[in-house]
Amino acid sequence: MTTAQVDHWAAELAVMGPGISEAVAWAGLVIDRAEGTRLTDIEGNSYLDLMGGAGVNLIGHSHPAYIAAMTEQLNTWQIGAHASRARLDALLGLAALLPSGLDRVQLYSSGAEAVESAIRVAKSATGKFEILSFWGGFHGRTAAALAATGGARTGLGPAMPGVHTTPYANCYRCPLKTTYPGCGLACVDHARDSLREQSSGSLAAILVEPVQGRSGNVVPPPGYLTALHELAAEHDALLICDESMTGLGRTGTALASQHDDVTPDIAILGKGLGNGYPVSAVAAPTALMEAGPYGKPSASSSSYGGFPLACAAVSAVTRTVREERLADLAATLGATLLDHLRDLIPIAGIVGDIRGRGLAIGIELVTDQTNRKPLPKDHLRKVFTDLLNHGVLVMTGGSTLRLYPPLTATADELDQAADALARVLATHNALAES
Ligand SMILES: Cc1ncc(COP(=O)(O)O)c(C=O)c1O
Repeated sequence: MTTAQVDHWAAELAVMGPGISEAVAWAGLVIDRAEGTRLTDIEGNSYLDLMGGAGVNLIGHSHPAYIAAMTEQLNTWQIGAHASRARLDALLGLAALLPSGLDRVQLYSSGAEAVESAIRVAKSATGKFEILSFWGGFHGRTAAALAATGGARTGLGPAMPGVHTTPYANCYRCPLKTTYPGCGLACVDHARDSLREQSSGSLAAILVEPVQGRSGNVVPPPGYLTALHELAAEHDALLICDESMTGLGRTGTALASQHDDVTPDIAILGKGLGNGYPVSAVAAPTALMEAGPYGKPSASSSSYGGFPLACAAVSAVTRTVREERLADLAATLGATLLDHLRDLIPIAGIVGDIRGRGLAIGIELVTDQTNRKPLPKDHLRKVFTDLLNHGVLVMTGGSTLRLYPPLTATADELDQAADALARVLATHNALAES
């Protein structure tokens, strides 16, 4: 980074609280403007943005339809949860994308807030309180979301009672040391056994990401969500799919759970839903939404939930996803990008695994192909920085490079990103061998 950007960061960090995203801090960029897939810093350097605000950039930076909708709303009305054209458009826009059955939507402001709300829906509808969530999952940093987020609670005292965690179907790092398909989804059997041993008989919901984002876009094998849905049903519990990262077309279908032909009982949306404007949603059937305390007057509301600008954003995003057929594009562009990466980058040296679904892709880096020890952070940072110097900004998670291009990215931009990734990883492998 240049002195101007380093000085700018120093000035911000002197007054800002600590704990910002590690990858954002590593990048050290001071951004001037952005368009489509590209970010431009204050010195005019341009980067292919595959971080996308951690999977938020769904329809591209500064999409003209988005700017027009937000500008019009800004010029007319911004405050209040009254009915409006924008809110009806947003709700109908979501209804047109979501699988049938998820016919009622409540709007919130952040992913974690929607997770809390989805848990409240499940508790209200079942009259029970336990939640089963997964190792390596991420659901946010509010109290219940944090309780359901493995490995993030250290030093924060007791978590919400009644949350059980169990291994996810992470086949590259199977905690049960088995192999799919021979295992017959042993991790689901393990979850079943865990519940038998640990549950007080009050399971309200299984909370799961259809593709685990923060663990590096881990894609579970076919049938996994179906098996979890069945497990939930065995307990008269609900399946909540946290689609904050995967929803609205990113993986090639409106919801990633549709890859398994599963319609969750409750779906959570966030991130790309507002394409940068903070808005999230919980979608569920009417019978669940209206049950118990959640359905009572004022019981599901929040100050900013369904405010005009949020609705204008959702309306513009859902319309763009539909009109530009972005889910289909994510499926084809993502499959091509994954093939291209696999052709260009051998599984060797520090590259342990290349995987993904649609335009959510992970390249997991390791010190050793046999023991699959995660690449140490200082080495990961070097790879990340070299990529940035090649004009490509990615997200990280554990020891994985996570790629979240907008669904509007061009094939040419994705080819450029794949070439840069191949060059940088080949250099690091060559250095390790020399
Ligand atoms: C799957 C998932 N759920 C929930 C969240 C939390 O969202 P937010 O940061 O908007 O609270 C995240 C954030 O990364 C996420 O990836």
